[in-house]
Amino acid sequence: MNFEDLIRDVYQKIKNIDDKGEMASYIPELSKVNPKNFGVHISTIKKVNFGMGNYNGKFSIQSITKVLSLILAYRIVGDEIWDRVGVEPSGTAFNSLVQLEADKGIPRNPFLNAGAIVVSDILLSNLKNPKEDFIDFVRSISNNKALEYSNKIAQSEKDVGYRNVALCNFIKSFGKIENEPSDVLDFYFDLCSLEMSCKELSELFLFLANNGLGVHNNKSILSESQSKRINALMQTCGFYDESGEFAFKVGLPGKSGVGGGIIAIHPNQYAIAVWSPKLNKKGNSHKGMKFLEEFTTRSELSIF
Ligand code: DON
Repeated sequence: MNFEDLIRDVYQKIKNIDDKGEMASYIPELSKVNPKNFGVHISTIKKVNFGMGNYNGKFSIQSITKVLSLILAYRIVGDEIWDRVGVEPSGTAFNSLVQLEADKGIPRNPFLNAGAIVVSDILLSNLKNPKEDFIDFVRSISNNKALEYSNKIAQSEKDVGYRNVALCNFIKSFGKIENEPSDVLDFYFDLCSLEMSCKELSELFLFLANNGLGVHNNKSILSESQSKRINALMQTCGFYDESGEFAFKVGLPGKSGVGGGIIAIHPNQYAIAVWSPKLNKKGNSHKGMKFLEEFTTRSELSIF
């Protein structure tokens, strides 16, 4: 499979489609990003690294960070984590409150805002210096010391994150948050503010295509079974109420963020990252989804 040629072709085709999406204006700082940015980068197990467009441009990874915080918490508390968050697709929007009442403060899955807030609470209870320890962990995965939070983005969301405040307080009311909600939220917003390029993102996530082993040093980041479970969750819950559609059209485990980034994993093959800031109605990158659909269709490689 010549991934370079395929990416070149698909990139040119999708670059010119009508971008019907909207910017994520509910976080003011995100709406300042140039909507024309479009980048893609693939990293493969066989050490192919190739990008097109603005693949070195840094963007706010937002909810993609929820995979990384889940992984760190999973490493620390193991299967106990599933007592605090479920593993079921929700069929709701990423920031929905509706199921929490019936489910008594146990979010359906760790990729919903509610679930990621609970994971942030677990990390706060278990890390000495949560903000530093988390970024150190993320940097260690692909040996990339240049990865940073964005204070600007975090502050912008802290100023207006009323729904997340509501979610955290609501979960706390069921006794399912251990720390002070303001501390949990502060940490959660910092996690979402992580910035990366498509190149950095695909390099970082390649270990999930490698049975949980770091690609640069062969060290275990997750056990093989844990790595499979994270991929299963990305497959079933990574795109909220568009997860079925993504499985149907793209057919890979993946995760989106409202910064317009998407990471997708083909186990034993590659990790691919796409960035285009305009979002469809479900909060996922419009062009990013189209790119990946075309890319996996034409590559004729499938996990099914
Ligand atoms: O909490 C929020 O609303 C954002 N920090 C993250 C949401 C997000 O990226 C959802 N993904 N598509």
